[in-house]
Amino acid sequence: MENHNIVIVALHDKPDAIEDCIKLLNDEWPRSKTARMRSIESSNPNLPISLIMVSNTTTGNSDVIGHAKIARLPFDTGSCMIESVLIHPANRGKGFGKLLMEECEKLAAKLGFSTAVLSTHDKQQFYQKLGYEFCQPVSQYGAGPSPSKPSLSQVKENKIPTKSDKSISHEEKELRTSVTVPQPPPLPKSNNAFRIAKVYMKKSLNQ
Ligand SMILES: CC(C)(COP(=O)(O)OP(=O)(O)OC[C@H]1O[C@@H](n2cnc3c(N)ncnc32)[C@H](O)[C@@H]1OP(=O)(O)O)[C@@H](O)C(=O)NCCC(=O)NCCS
Repeated sequence: MENHNIVIVALHDKPDAIEDCIKLLNDEWPRSKTARMRSIESSNPNLPISLIMVSNTTTGNSDVIGHAKIARLPFDTGSCMIESVLIHPANRGKGFGKLLMEECEKLAAKLGFSTAVLSTHDKQQFYQKLGYEFCQPVSQYGAGPSPSKPSLSQVKENKIPTKSDKSISHEEKELRTSVTVPQPPPLPKSNNAFRIAKVYMKKSLNQ
């Protein structure tokens, strides 16, 4: 067995590992190389940070065997999101996932976050072992629904939103409320009919 020397570094401090990192991620979660590049190239000290686990062997090879990303949450400055946690298939079950998560948590605490949040479809047990517990879903992106957009109930009823009832004539109101939004095409049939819903988990970093 080769003697492994494992290091965990920020991807922006090791840009020569970007290609390997893209391959690691895309082998697990296929995505266009450009989209993946855009996502991981954003790694910077002010977040998001992509942490990579690199295995340097005595034979001089340097392999990227793990990745995890720490990102800010738009509505919660005290919490960060840990995403895209991945260990190369050949290196799973050796404690590397746990090690990488611990490094993420240490760095997140150092950056001032008191809670780490993540979402998962099927790795609840792995995260539970690391001390995570189930929590309410968090919003990861941008602002909430814009007031100018139709409400969910309006979309469900397929009605275009109207101006204030008083400001339009009865005929116009009838016309507007009877206009229906075209139906989107049906979703492609998936073999994965029972796709598991994702759950959110969190862990306090003040321990
Ligand atoms: C999930 C993943 C990161 C775990 O990495 P790993 O290196 O295999 O995990 P470790 O060896 O560090 O395991 C730490 C502990 O969790 C347990 N564990 C790991 N994966 C587990 C799983 N799928 N279910 C239950 N327990 C698990 C281990 O048995 C170990 O327990 P122990 O401390 O009692 O021995 C890895 O399996 C992976 O990359 N999976 C594919 C990508 C993925 O699904 N990522 C998660 C996205 S939310």
